Amino acid sequence: MTDLLQRATATFQSRFGTPPALIVRAPGRVNLIGEHTDYNDGFVLPMAIDRQVVIALRPRHDGYVAVYSLDFDETVEFSPVEMEDRREGGLWIEYMQGMAWALQEAGHALKGWEGVVGGDVPIGAGLSSSAAIELATARAFAEVSNLPWHPAQMALLAQRAENEWVGVKTGIMDQMISAAGVAGRALLIDCRSLAFEAVPLPPETSVVILDTATRRELVTSAYNERREQCEAAAAFFGVPKLRDVSWPRFEAEQEGLDPVTRRRARHVISENARTEAAAEAMRRGDATELGLLMDASHVSMRDDFEITNDALNMMVAIAQVHPASYGARMTGGGFGGCAVALVRAEQAAQFASDVARGYTAANGLTPAVYVTPAAAGASVMKP
Ligand code: GLA
Repeated sequence: MTDLLQRATATFQSRFGTPPALIVRAPGRVNLIGEHTDYNDGFVLPMAIDRQVVIALRPRHDGYVAVYSLDFDETVEFSPVEMEDRREGGLWIEYMQGMAWALQEAGHALKGWEGVVGGDVPIGAGLSSSAAIELATARAFAEVSNLPWHPAQMALLAQRAENEWVGVKTGIMDQMISAAGVAGRALLIDCRSLAFEAVPLPPETSVVILDTATRRELVTSAYNERREQCEAAAAFFGVPKLRDVSWPRFEAEQEGLDPVTRRRARHVISENARTEAAAEAMRRGDATELGLLMDASHVSMRDDFEITNDALNMMVAIAQVHPASYGARMTGGGFGGCAVALVRAEQAAQFASDVARGYTAANGLTPAVYVTPAAAGASVMKP
């Protein structure tokens, strides 16, 4: 049992006097390639990671939900049918209440429960701690209320919670991978149809997360601004989403766009092509090609989409030149947080310590660098 599971179970036992009736979990994620493509109806290639949110719980018969947060040392009790609309911006309980709201909006009758929630996905690092808490909450409600579990449908409701209750206009990637992740695989997700395909990592490779230890404030406004720029570009081409613009068409007509919008569109359109090519490389087991595509993706995010910061560029540069590396790029929403690298498995530990040391030498920050396996999506565990 992991440390987190143990803490959640032991805390449940001491607060409620019995073992939990069940434990649910949902993972964070790291995106291998396909950034800011999801809300353009394009392709993404994330995998679920071995960091997650867990909830130890038991059903309750008065309809109320009471949750103690291990991470915030706070208990909140609420009735899903008469929730106060807090929406104060990012409080942990809002993700849970938002999920309850979205489930009810979809017509599900919810039963109550009580329990303990905890997580080890770093918050604000670009590894989707918010999708993890949303999907763990969805799993908890589904289990106690006997709701059918359809990963894509639950992901859409979680996205709705995040968009409309929490108020962050994210795409569908994070919720989809947290709901539908497959152990040992990344998922190529078509964010228009929500069809997905599990693709294996190339043989003898490891995925390494490189947390720069930088976090960016005001990331929501920068994110929403990128969305608007993409919408403006799609409108210029007269299509619903940038997914519908082919590379040849972009090249032929790009002159009509202003320089900033042109760069944003160039990132999204080229990133979609890179993501499909990356999945193809993975099907062939071609680590070299996958790594090159990751490197190219970083350049595109740095120069065209402009969502990296100095720390991310530094980290990626150090990772890319290491002999164990196939490729590296920033991952997630951007402006701080994490990069991801694909490395030779037998040299992964050496890579992690060398890159961490090189990064500290370069800018004085202490990063977190660790190998992650690809985990399964949201699930129920009996204690
Ligand atoms: C955040 C959002 C996702 C996606 C990424 C960028 O993680 O939650 O929907 O847009 O940024 O790829």
